[in-house]
Amino acid sequence: MLPYLHLGSIPPKRHIAHAAKPGYKNEGIYYEEVVTVAGFGRAYSICYHLRPPTQVTKIEAAGEVSLDIVPEPTLRHHHLRSKDMKAQGDPITGRFPLLVNDDVTIARCRPKTAQEMLFRNATADEIIFVHQGRGTLETMFGPVPFRPFDYIVIPRCTTYLLDFDSAIQPELLIIEGAGNIDIPAKYLNRDGQLRLGAPYAERDLHGPTTFRTIDQEKPTAVVIKDGRRMTRYTLASHPFDVVGWDGMVYPYTFNADDFEPITGTVHQPPPVQQTFDAPGFVVCTFAPRLLDTHPLAIKVPYAHSNVQADEVLYYVRGRFGSRRGVEEASFTLHPRGIPHGPHPGTIVASRDMTRTDELAVMVDTVAPLHLTRQALELDDPQYPYSWLD
Ligand SMILES: [Fe+2]
Repeated sequence: MLPYLHLGSIPPKRHIAHAAKPGYKNEGIYYEEVVTVAGFGRAYSICYHLRPPTQVTKIEAAGEVSLDIVPEPTLRHHHLRSKDMKAQGDPITGRFPLLVNDDVTIARCRPKTAQEMLFRNATADEIIFVHQGRGTLETMFGPVPFRPFDYIVIPRCTTYLLDFDSAIQPELLIIEGAGNIDIPAKYLNRDGQLRLGAPYAERDLHGPTTFRTIDQEKPTAVVIKDGRRMTRYTLASHPFDVVGWDGMVYPYTFNADDFEPITGTVHQPPPVQQTFDAPGFVVCTFAPRLLDTHPLAIKVPYAHSNVQADEVLYYVRGRFGSRRGVEEASFTLHPRGIPHGPHPGTIVASRDMTRTDELAVMVDTVAPLHLTRQALELDDPQYPYSWLD
């Protein structure tokens, strides 16, 4: 549950006239748009536009997202190195889906150009993890600035433009959730507030704080994605013509360095690192932290078999105590049913360490993940044998 926000001009009650003088076509009002979650059953925001947000002048097919899933003859671990992946397209068209199931698509993006058209994902919530780059997410709720190591959380049906500082090559990890991406319920008290002791709090979530109304009555293109299909809508006017809004649905950022790690005298399991919750998967943050303090503690994770889960780690920054051979922008996929654990030598190497500076994003899925052809091009086939001395 996100905190309630209110920006700009709204009327004193919902669903009553919000007077505008003279207003579009002298109708004397601003136009209400109710932005909801799960039909009308969950959180919502109410926005007020200069013009009706429904006027469309042209609808055109804009192609399909390529998703070339490769059947794998064996069950095995994978190490995908994405650091040198080709930069291409823009922050929307340059996305390479790598790991996919019905609940989640995990993609990398190294955009080469600025975002060409406004974009709206109609059927998925998105988390864009900013590995490198900074800029502003432009939306009708107002601009949301972002910086390195931010998770940008964008609710479905938010029209947006990712505007990057052109001096830095953006490096993005994109997680698209078919279900709603939420703050884990275990972190919320019965009043809906983040509990004392949760690894982050409301002050760490950064929604829009200002907005600017774009009063532009001229054709404006928005690319809408639903599943793999892309459709280009030409709107009669700019959709960011909002004069005010309030509610609990809006895009926001959370910086991975604001995650407060929970540590113990011995190793704590991954659920203490959970950051987001969604049907079919969780997102966790392995943040810099103190290592276990028991005098006999094994300071790297024990071997385990991911029973009923597939585990993806995306390595962001620092040195990874339990892994050899990974680098920044590596992915490891440790699928269900086969054990993985610390690499040889890492248990001893960590014995005298008191803290780790590693930063990684983990996605654990319930259903098996499939690799795309682009993922296999980045794969190290020797990785499953890397536990041999
Ligand atoms: Fe693991």
